[in-house]
Amino acid sequence: MDAAPNPVGEQSVAAGLGFPRPEGQPASALGWPATVSRETSSERPWQSPLESAPNGSPAVSESDLTDVATEGPVTAHSTAPEGAATTAPPAAPQTTDDSEERAAIAASIPAADSFTPLAQAAAADARKRITLTGRSVPRPPRTRVLTVANQKGGVGKTTTTVNIAAALAQAGSTVLVVDLDPQGNASTALGIDHHAEVPSVYDVLVEGQDISEVVQACPDLPNLLCAPATIDLAGAEIELVSLVARETRLQKAIAAYVETRTASGDALDYVLVDCPPSLGLLTVNAFVAASEVFIPIQCEYYALEGLSQLLNNIEMIRSHLNPALHVSTILLTMYDARTRLSAQVADEVRTHFADQTLKATVPRSVRISEAPSHGQTVITYDPNSSGALSYLEAAVELAERGVARTTTEESA
Ligand SMILES: Nc1ncnc2c1ncn2[C@@H]1O[C@H](COP(=O)(O)OP(=O)(O)O)[C@@H](O)[C@H]1O
Ligand SMILES: [Mg+2]
Repeated sequence: MDAAPNPVGEQSVAAGLGFPRPEGQPASALGWPATVSRETSSERPWQSPLESAPNGSPAVSESDLTDVATEGPVTAHSTAPEGAATTAPPAAPQTTDDSEERAAIAASIPAADSFTPLAQAAAADARKRITLTGRSVPRPPRTRVLTVANQKGGVGKTTTTVNIAAALAQAGSTVLVVDLDPQGNASTALGIDHHAEVPSVYDVLVEGQDISEVVQACPDLPNLLCAPATIDLAGAEIELVSLVARETRLQKAIAAYVETRTASGDALDYVLVDCPPSLGLLTVNAFVAASEVFIPIQCEYYALEGLSQLLNNIEMIRSHLNPALHVSTILLTMYDARTRLSAQVADEVRTHFADQTLKATVPRSVRISEAPSHGQTVITYDPNSSGALSYLEAAVELAERGVARTTTEESA
């Protein structure tokens, strides 16, 4: 399954989508040498920590430096993650901006070459652990409402919603997850009760209840809230058809809740809406309620098929119902650094959506897929796993990009 042969040959993955190819780009990303991992090839080159190490003390001795510099590639043994684990900072969010110090320590971990992929992965995880664990993220000036959408099922919408939400909450943000999928997978993953009698998003959409009456706090992270989905929501798609203002019901409910929280000095930083795998009325409500669309894309060959349909729908909602709607974020999930197909899909997506695609990618990880069966996100279930670290990295990027974008807009 993992190292599936590349079914596309020299053909471009996006060929069927009608996306224009920028001039000067190669016809496909097949030029990647098989032994080069994209993830690690984009890492910063190994740098001397001597000038910038915290407390003025070098993180490695000068002789270590010479060894690495002159003797070439390091082995799996010398980049073992155990050493990094002992230098990792505590897990509690920190208020001071120590990112430069963290970067210096992370940079002191020697790079491994492409012949030792396990060492590469261990070194990359150790760097992420040092740079990200326990970090706080900048809070947005206004509540950001993001709809996590992709009409395909099983591409990682729910997984992305709950893990990004948990990562942001752990880093000090206040986050609301609105579970808009009748299957209620996001509610399950957050450990939220959602049996048939529980007040839920159905009551908000169909009965007009306030979101404050249905939200529950996540047991592991008190500043992570969830408006759960129950099985009732399965009927909402049909019941909504005959209701007044059927497309704007979620938008009104979220706007009212955001306003109340802001007025009471307890503002939400993020609202993440987890969509069902269809483009029905529930998803339309999610698109009307948000200003940002967050698309998880699975690094598989078929992942890009249907993306143009999703983009057309977003465009339609933008022109008729919600002029603020735009695709702000794309996250590549289930990325397998060992396959050229993953690198090729990633390359195609980055070519067409250069500004929106996060640098962080989420690997295929058993820890990510088993966390929901414990009613947890991977962020609390196994915080040091590569899956948790990748979601943490993506969440930090999402938060920082949001703040950077606001600053640019305000100065324009
Ligand atoms: N990065 C990952 N590694 C391993 N399994 C994953 C990953 N992301 C998602 N999954 C698994 O894939 C399946 C579909 O993911 P899910 O988030 O439910 O997709 P969607 O909400 O788009 O239908 C789930 O069983 C989930 O645990
Ligand atoms: Mg889902």
